[in-house]
Amino acid sequence: MSETYLVTGRGGFIGSNVVDELLRRGKSVRDIDNSSTGKRENLSTSSRDVQLVEGDLRSYERARKAVAGVDYVIHLPALPPVPRSVQDPLTTNAVSITGTLDVLLTARDAGVRRVASASSSSVNGPSAVSPNMAENANQPSR
Ligand SMILES: NC(=O)c1ccc[n+]([C@@H]2O[C@H](COP(=O)([O-])OP(=O)(O)OC[C@H]3O[C@@H](n4cnc5c(N)ncnc54)[C@H](O)[C@@H]3O)[C@@H](O)[C@H]2O)c1
Repeated sequence: MSETYLVTGRGGFIGSNVVDELLRRGKSVRDIDNSSTGKRENLSTSSRDVQLVEGDLRSYERARKAVAGVDYVIHLPALPPVPRSVQDPLTTNAVSITGTLDVLLTARDAGVRRVASASSSSVNGPSAVSPNMAENANQPSR
């Protein structure tokens, strides 16, 4: 039987490409997205093959339903751009931290085999040195 993946943030740039690749590989896909920053055209790609859970991840109960029965979770929701997290840190924290904790706890309780999540080079701060990795952060330009 085909493995089932939950892709969170599927309306986004990365999530929509991940969904397309999973479908190309013959996987079953479910997604959850609240359309806060994602694009409708991303959601329409191959949407007939994807089981959609419409709504906000910031709900343990919704996350529990989304995670039920899946083998893997690819966790990709985001609230860009970075300055927004400075202007409204509570909302960013709720989506990025509490929402991620909801997914991790429900995945653990549902026996999901693995959860993968994307980070960002923004956590390293600005760097004039490429690639932008933790050890290069805040290096002056040469
Ligand atoms: N795009 C890049 O170049 C890049 C590079 C490195 C890391 N990342 C990381 O990859 C992840 C995805 O990035 P992206 O560019 O695809 O983001 P994106 O903004 O294009 O998509 C994010 C998706 O998450 C959804 N979302 C936001 N809050 C939600 C919530 N509460 N509940 C449900 N859905 C919600 C949005 O509607 C959107 O569809 C992020 O964690 C980002 O930091 C992105």
